[in-house]
Amino acid sequence: MESQKYNILFVCLGNICRSPAAQAVMQRMVDERGLSGRFYIDSAGMGGWHVGDLPDKRMRVHARPRGYELTHRARKVQAGDFEEFDLIVGMDASNVDELRDLAATIEQERKVVMMGDYIRQFPHYDHVPDPYYEGSEGFELVLDLLEDACDNLLNQIIEQNNISSR
Ligand code: 4NP
Repeated sequence: MESQKYNILFVCLGNICRSPAAQAVMQRMVDERGLSGRFYIDSAGMGGWHVGDLPDKRMRVHARPRGYELTHRARKVQAGDFEEFDLIVGMDASNVDELRDLAATIEQERKVVMMGDYIRQFPHYDHVPDPYYEGSEGFELVLDLLEDACDNLLNQIIEQNNISSR
C-alpha cells in the first residue's frame, strides 16, 4: 500500500473465487496500460473460512487459459481496509450491504461500490454471481463479467482521478 497510489480492494464472500479473479483481471489491465506504478490492487473476503488459501482450484483452472495466474492468499476484510483503500468493490448486493455496515464513517461508506454497476456487455447481470456451487459455466461467466466490468471501472477511475502513466 502506498499513499501516492490509487488503492482498490475487491471483495466477495470467501475471497477464493470472484475477488481474487477480479484482482488478477484488474492488475493485468493496469499493467497493459503502463499504469502499474499508479495502482495497488488487492482482494479480501467477508468471511474467514478460507484465510491463507490459494484461490479455488476451479477458478484457477478457468483463469489460466485467459492468461491469469491466481496466486492471492485469502484474507478477511478488516477495519483498516476502509482507511487504506480508495475504492472497495463488492461483487454482489450482499457484499455491498455488509461492507457499508462495516464502514465506520460516511466517507468510508462512500468508498464502497458494486461491481455490477460496471457491467455493460451482459445487461441481464447486475452483480457477479457466486460460482462456488456452480459448474464450469459459472466460472467462465464470472471471468466474462469481470473482464467487462474491470475495463469500465478502470476507465472511470482514470478519468475521475486524472491518472496517467509517468
Ligand atoms: P467467492 O465464492 O465469494 O467468490 O470466493 C465462495 C467461496 C467460498 C464460499 C462461498 C463463496 N464458502 O461458503 O466457503
